[in-house]
Amino acid sequence: DVSNDLPSREVLFDFHGVPMIHSFSANWEKIQNFQARPDDILIATYPKAGTTWVSYILDLLYFGKTSPERQTSIPLYERVPFLEITISSTDSGVDLAERLTTSPRLIKTHLPVQLVPKSFWEQNCKMIYVARNAKDNMVSYFHMDRMTLFHPDPGDWSSYFKRFLEGNILFGSWYDHVNSWWKKKQTHDKIHYMFYEDMIEVKLIYHILFLEKLCCFLGLSSSLEERKQITGGVQFDNMKKNNMVNYSTLQVMDFKVSQFMRKGKVGDWKNHFTVAQNEEFDENYKQKMKNSTLQFRYEV
Ligand code: A3P
Repeated sequence: DVSNDLPSREVLFDFHGVPMIHSFSANWEKIQNFQARPDDILIATYPKAGTTWVSYILDLLYFGKTSPERQTSIPLYERVPFLEITISSTDSGVDLAERLTTSPRLIKTHLPVQLVPKSFWEQNCKMIYVARNAKDNMVSYFHMDRMTLFHPDPGDWSSYFKRFLEGNILFGSWYDHVNSWWKKKQTHDKIHYMFYEDMIEVKLIYHILFLEKLCCFLGLSSSLEERKQITGGVQFDNMKKNNMVNYSTLQVMDFKVSQFMRKGKVGDWKNHFTVAQNEEFDENYKQKMKNSTLQFRYEV
């Protein structure tokens, strides 16, 4: 038990061309050889794009009715294991995933598409990818790195901003991540590509439509009533106070520094970017995304 023994900040190193830390690569052999099952569902995101939100939605869709007790007794990070994580004080993501007795297994990853274990492709598993506009994603990631005690030290905002543009942060370049998953989606029909901004659209009707699309991809039927109930349960304020989904039970995060459920908004970047940073970002973005058909919204 290392609960009184706070983890120290790790350093980034190059791992198959991606900036990585020990806690997400130490178990690589087992991760690479992970045996996916055909009905496994992989939830893939660049960190801070809405992983927890969509994980919770999927968990409710599959198990909300059949095992309501799991909602109040098992933290979401155990129901939806994080494939590549190995922190000594807890079980590895692979161990947790292998121990799941429910099906389908919902599995979370932040790996770029080229590093996803091959059995997920061989088994033709469904994959849900969530992308979030780079400006808000950067802000959210900055605060996550500040509060997550084993993540590399983010430094101050202006140096973080530079490193984000260079792709020199944990899990690498946002630009490469969203684009390579997007490219993969064009030739692989088992990837459902979603946007944080669409999920946040305030009008209830959009939430329900968005759930309808998701259910259609998953081959699930759900009643309007059920969908309404789910959209209520996954509202930001409800998730923020739900200890089974807000990560408050994890020791590796310092909630005095920042919250996991921090703001849950589109456009918080405006409170962080200076005018000069915004110009530099936009210029750089045009270059990096010039061959991409991906479109993001920076406000809704
Ligand atoms: P902020 O830091 O901008 O608030 P991930 O789960 O991929 O780590 O992403 C975390 C981000 O998603 C955080 O963004 C968090 O607040 C936001 N989020 C989580 N649940 C949400 C919800 N129900 N509605 C809106 N945003 C949510």
